[in-house]
Amino acid sequence: MNQSFDRHRRLRSSAAMRDLVRETVLQTDDLIYPIFVKEGNNTKTEVTSMPGVFQFPLHELEEEVAELIKLGIKAIILFGLPNDKDDIGTGAYHSHGIVQEATRLVKNIAPEMLVIADTCLCEFTDHGHCGVIENGEVQNDKSLALLKITALSQAEAGADIIAPSNMMDGFVKVIRDGLDEAGYQHIPIMSYAVKYASAFYGPFRDAANSAPQFGDRKTYQMDPANRLEALREAQSDEQEGADFLIVKPALSYLDIVRDVRDRTNLPVVAYNVSGEYAMVKAASANGWIDEQRIVMEMLTSMKRAGVSLIITYFAKDVARYLKGDA
Ligand code: PBG
Repeated sequence: MNQSFDRHRRLRSSAAMRDLVRETVLQTDDLIYPIFVKEGNNTKTEVTSMPGVFQFPLHELEEEVAELIKLGIKAIILFGLPNDKDDIGTGAYHSHGIVQEATRLVKNIAPEMLVIADTCLCEFTDHGHCGVIENGEVQNDKSLALLKITALSQAEAGADIIAPSNMMDGFVKVIRDGLDEAGYQHIPIMSYAVKYASAFYGPFRDAANSAPQFGDRKTYQMDPANRLEALREAQSDEQEGADFLIVKPALSYLDIVRDVRDRTNLPVVAYNVSGEYAMVKAASANGWIDEQRIVMEMLTSMKRAGVSLIITYFAKDVARYLKGDA
């Protein structure tokens, strides 16, 4: 008998059929792994709120990089924990700063590994803000000058990609001009174009020891309620010369990912942030969820929303799942 409805189940009838019609595929090549590097000679320390994530001293970095290479992970993003902080974040742009030293080390032992340098000041300032403070406020243009020298020192150390994350207006332009003038025309900028003032960064601030010591980041990071503002941010960064656009956090902002994807031809990147990671790990430790399936579903949904790449603390786990040796 002929029915007058569509038979969608035809294309779901077997595993092979489902494989045949799958629209979105997550691969290890899509992943960027964040690494926290810390000054000093201690051993690596696990971040309490982020099980499986460590702060690495330089002398333990080589082993970690070797593991990443074995897993097929091709890109890392570095965050630094300096011994000393001051009010102008000197450690961020010192030629022997922790991120610069870690970059040199990784490029030396594994030249094929792409090193992305997070370009921000909050891990290096004693007040924990992402810029210069005057009269209790983060100063935009004075902070830009420091961001520029930070980016230059990272490029000089061998960083393959510069990833400015401090949300000052004009940061892509100033860094692009700075890189070009210094002969780094070939170094791309992966801009944190759309970065919300999010509670999902909580565990990162433990990991990077970068919580603001007064106030919050709401005068520079975006209001989670806003969508059109995200499109303006993305548009400015593209016009200023960004090569990649990051949307951050990821899970609660997949509508924004799709909006940005539909309006740019640049690669869009999701940052699957620390709080998103911690929630999954906590629920999984309690036996409340199937961690592997949840992680794969979350990351696949980011790709389905339109990203090309995902910065994620789950990168090693996912690489193992995809290899089939979970
Ligand atoms: C630096 C920076 C932050 C994160 C990445 N770069 C922290 C913040 O803005 O407070 C958060 C990443 C995460 O939560 O995983 N500005």
